Amino acid sequence: MTLKINMKAVTKRRIRNFVKENMGRETSHDYSHAFRVGNIAMCIAEREGLEKPSLYEIAGLLHDIGLGLCERPAHGEVGAQMAQSFLFDIAGKEMTLEEITEVVYAISWHNHKKLAPRPSQLLDVLVDADTLDLLGAVGIWRGLAARPEKELGFSVAKILPTIENARYDTISKSKRENNSHDLMEQLSYQISCADILSTKTAKLQAEPLLSFMRNFRYMLAHELSMSNHE
Ligand SMILES: [Fe+2]
Ligand SMILES: [Fe+2]
Repeated sequence: MTLKINMKAVTKRRIRNFVKENMGRETSHDYSHAFRVGNIAMCIAEREGLEKPSLYEIAGLLHDIGLGLCERPAHGEVGAQMAQSFLFDIAGKEMTLEEITEVVYAISWHNHKKLAPRPSQLLDVLVDADTLDLLGAVGIWRGLAARPEKELGFSVAKILPTIENARYDTISKSKRENNSHDLMEQLSYQISCADILSTKTAKLQAEPLLSFMRNFRYMLAHELSMSNHE
């Protein structure tokens, strides 16, 4: 039997409202990130010819719902529990148990990005959509906003780009864990995230976004090195 999710507009609106109310205030992970990931996931599913693209949108909308309630490594699992009871409540008549379980599973594993092989297509697409939102102009903006002043005691304006780091697409794990203040390192980390993309659609979408980010990084380094000569 082919399962067809048939969701009313009003239910989708309730899901979006729930996301808006429950997402944290961190600029790079607010509800607009969830809305974008929902749209990107649905778009990938449609282009890959997958059934039930709405299911992908719902997973994208709800994937980070646990952020703000727990330590970062646990947010997939915490968010999955929240999504499960919410979906049973509001969409129990429009989604089958199997569909809710699929969404909940993808949410609970989406932050284990190196998991391979991934046992669910929904999880593959969700990880790809989440990763695409780290790239391009939005990725740069999220990179700048990723270090909130109130948590780290410094402002975004003090995240200085180091020209030497503009040449590399990867940074060492230890540097990443040290919460580098270097914009170049932050961008390099985000560019390196594209290595885990798995769908053909996401890889194609990533190409112009990555070249934009590399050009931005190159131009920034170039312009900064010009001012060094004064
Ligand atoms: Fe996440
Ligand atoms: Fe996310």
